[in-house]
Amino acid sequence: MNKEEMMENVNLAVKVCKKCRLHSGALNAVPGEGNTSSEIVFIGEAPGRTEDETGRPFVGRAGKLLEQSLSDIGLSRKDVWIGNIVKHRPPENRDPLPDEITACEKFLAYQLRIISPVLVVTLGRFAMNYFYPEGRITHDRGTLLRTKNFNVYPVYHPAAALRNPEMMRGFVEDFKRIPQILDLIKKGDKNIPVQTDQQIDDGQLVLGL
Ligand code: URA
Repeated sequence: MNKEEMMENVNLAVKVCKKCRLHSGALNAVPGEGNTSSEIVFIGEAPGRTEDETGRPFVGRAGKLLEQSLSDIGLSRKDVWIGNIVKHRPPENRDPLPDEITACEKFLAYQLRIISPVLVVTLGRFAMNYFYPEGRITHDRGTLLRTKNFNVYPVYHPAAALRNPEMMRGFVEDFKRIPQILDLIKKGDKNIPVQTDQQIDDGQLVLGL
């Protein structure tokens, strides 16, 4: 099986998943989409209204900002892979509950194993904390975090950026650095200054740039 076929199998499993309550209030599952060979993946929290209606991630207002930002760094959404932690829309866009995250966890794990990205860009606090529970978005956004399995680069959520001009400035600034971050990772960690004072409990290292 090639990557596309493996991903299609995961997506089919997502579409019939009834492991938590969220499927019952949703119109469509939103498994994620894009290039399964991409070096960069973008991970949000959960589908919103437009995503629920279409079955596609980041196609509402936040998605338009994400697309524009991708275009500003010479990419389109077809070049990268875009997905969410949770695959069905929570009612009224509330935060997903712990048991809903657990129920969905395997899907993202499979998806990331198939893609094996160089860089995981998390969109917003919630997605950052999924990979890096100790993180604080205002402090850690725009910083490369090394977790056990991934290079994680948190940025503000585009929906938050749309609501707050200061967050928009931060989002744009951090987003523009994605190609540079990717390059630095590919050249090897030696080129990335390590903030040793930010070493944390479980052996993860925070690499400040
Ligand atoms: N917000 C998210 O976190 N994910 C989407 O797919 C859309 C909006």
